[in-house]
Amino acid sequence: MHTMTDWPLPFWIAHRGAGKRAPENTLAAFRTGAMHGWRAFECDVKTSADGVPFLLHDDTLLRTAGQPGVAGEQPWSDLSRLDAGSWHSPAFAGEPIPSLDAVAAFVQRNGLALNIEIKPTPGQEEATGVAVGQACLRLWGGAPERLLFSSFRPESLKGASRSAPGVPRGLLLDRLWTGWWDVAQSLGCVAVITNHRLMDAAMVRQLHGAGLRALCYTVNEVEDAQRLLDLGVDGLITDAIDRFAPALGGVEAAVCPPKSGV
Ligand code: G3P
Ligand code: MG
Repeated sequence: MHTMTDWPLPFWIAHRGAGKRAPENTLAAFRTGAMHGWRAFECDVKTSADGVPFLLHDDTLLRTAGQPGVAGEQPWSDLSRLDAGSWHSPAFAGEPIPSLDAVAAFVQRNGLALNIEIKPTPGQEEATGVAVGQACLRLWGGAPERLLFSSFRPESLKGASRSAPGVPRGLLLDRLWTGWWDVAQSLGCVAVITNHRLMDAAMVRQLHGAGLRALCYTVNEVEDAQRLLDLGVDGLITDAIDRFAPALGGVEAAVCPPKSGV
């Protein structure tokens, strides 16, 4: 039986699908990451105006889809028609914004792990958490495996804990704001995921002492990864999918050869 104490992720996690090697938060990025041997993926999820969870980092569409406007105020029928690949390079022209449903199908079919960062449109924090939790129970079933929720927004984790209490949660920290420890505890988090510059031996001790995992983002340099490995952290999120080689179990400044298929 799946319990909150089961940890769903391997050590190495590809940021936004494949870091900067493919358009972030698209299926093309997931395929690129998987072809480089990656087995776990972080992505950013918010909801459309009509409540469809989809992948996008920013509040707006300008940077990655070249359109004006707040993404979460538009219906999925419009969002799903946008080109989220041309901004990266011509090879990815026409690559669509994926729904969470599409990403769930890809990771499940290929036995991959997923860290869903709940990235709400401002003002939609708790509702987005609720909607993402509901969607994941529908997509993964009642006892999701290989799935972690994370968020910088405690309200989003609270929403997810209401709709999908059995999916483990991690609090993201870009700074050590007052009260973060109590919030992580009260939300029943099983992990804290910090900007890698915040992580030190005392933090690892504090987290491990309370039975929480210690993870870091976004770790792209070999020396930073080595420092965190030496500290004993439990996972790293990276853009550098061709610098690190998760299949080799550690820091390897070498390209992991693409596999045929995934
Ligand atoms: O989930 C960790 C990391 O993705 C947080 O930063 O801005 O890339 O979503 P950001
Ligand atoms: Mg993210």
